[in-house]
Amino acid sequence: MRASGQAVGPSDQPDFHSSAHQLTEWIEAYRSCLHELPVLSRVQPGDVEAAIPPVAPESPENFARILSDLDTTIVPGLTHWNHPGFMAYFASSASDPGILAEFVTAALNVNAMLWRTSPAATELESRMVDWVRDFVGLPDLFQGVIQDTASTSTFVALVAARGRAVPDVRELGLAGRSELGQCTVYGSRLAHMSLDKAAIAAGLGHANVRHVDVDERYAMRADALDAALAADRGAGRHPVMVCATLGTTSCTSCDPVAEIADVCAAHGVWLHVDAAYAGPAASLPELQPLFDGWQRADSIVLNPHKWMSVPIDCSVLLGRNLEEFRASLALTPEYLASDTTEHNLMDVGIALGRRFRALKLWFVFRWYGTNGLRAMLRRHCELAREFAARVAADPRLEIAAPVLFSTVCFRAIPPAGFTEGDWNHRLLSAVNREGSIFLSHAELDGRFTIRLTIGSVHTQREHVESAWESVERALQHPA
Ligand SMILES: Cc1ncc(COP(=O)(O)O)c(C=O)c1O
Repeated sequence: MRASGQAVGPSDQPDFHSSAHQLTEWIEAYRSCLHELPVLSRVQPGDVEAAIPPVAPESPENFARILSDLDTTIVPGLTHWNHPGFMAYFASSASDPGILAEFVTAALNVNAMLWRTSPAATELESRMVDWVRDFVGLPDLFQGVIQDTASTSTFVALVAARGRAVPDVRELGLAGRSELGQCTVYGSRLAHMSLDKAAIAAGLGHANVRHVDVDERYAMRADALDAALAADRGAGRHPVMVCATLGTTSCTSCDPVAEIADVCAAHGVWLHVDAAYAGPAASLPELQPLFDGWQRADSIVLNPHKWMSVPIDCSVLLGRNLEEFRASLALTPEYLASDTTEHNLMDVGIALGRRFRALKLWFVFRWYGTNGLRAMLRRHCELAREFAARVAADPRLEIAAPVLFSTVCFRAIPPAGFTEGDWNHRLLSAVNREGSIFLSHAELDGRFTIRLTIGSVHTQREHVESAWESVERALQHPA
């Protein structure tokens, strides 16, 4: 394809070709010095806003000036998710193919709302969902769509589940229908809050989210779920969906999906599996047993933007029967009507407009190959196990939850005069204040727990070693 050589806008606007070169150089410089920047932004609230003029410029500005403002105004206000020491939340990697694909996506700027508004975007999306499904070893009866986030995916799944449980809900809603009984949803005590949000947004009400008890491995107790479902049915309520989590946010525990699937089948309830973080690990044969039974789910979410080197946002929602997603949300005003029977992506979500997200999955799969992705997942799990072994061997620390994937939950045993919560809080603050490592915390059994999670394509053994050294220094000098 050849460049047209024509200016797109008025001649005093920055030139695209030279600006693109400057931008590439800027990105390379940013990436090469990233490890020297503090991973956690040090700006104070309001600093960035104060540095930005309150009104937009009236005349075009020089692109070099825009880039220099990126350095002075924006970069200091970033917490660097691409930093190799970013081990706080589940990572999202700006991998090389991911960055390049986002550049193309912006240039193409297609809106894949209907098949005809970009057949390639719609059909590449179907194919990429299939590639993801096959990569994680799910059967081909699952089909799916790409959503922006797992929160949206779970919401769309809940709306479909609600439609199955209450067939006329689409027309009549839930409000004021005392004959129905309250509609309820179920997740473990460690289920992600996106389940609660979905229940709020779908009109079920937060009070109707049941947080089922967990066992000593932080996995949902199937017997407790069974009892909760029976109690709700007995009280005239209407169970709509159970969400089992494979890889909980707090400690990456895995609910026993096979047992939960039995319970759901016995009660006739939709089973949704939230594998937003851990899903890609199902591609590793040695970890497959943790996913036992997930092929029996009605819907599954996993996020390539977490642990598959795809930049945010990219969440794959799989379902056994996409018609149920369509039946709950499809709506076609005349101006969007099609002559063809092709699959229109607007039918399986809330948004009409859709980004061309499949392109970055395509680039990532082809750049690394499935073997490359598996190697990365294995390396991350191995690094986590090495870190956990150091924690376990240190009498000042203890492991707080089984290490199933690439996340280590641990805490320090407080010296006399400190509470456990206070001591660990100080330790975490001291690590994060240093600037080279960013860790986060969670609460397990009401106890403050430090969390280190590895998932970025940029994180190597040396960075995990430096995290360990940082923890050791913090133990000497807590904040
Ligand atoms: C298990 C789990 N589910 C859902 C989510 C929500 O993900 P998203 O930010 O894509 O909505 C997260 C976020 O970390 C998560 O850990």
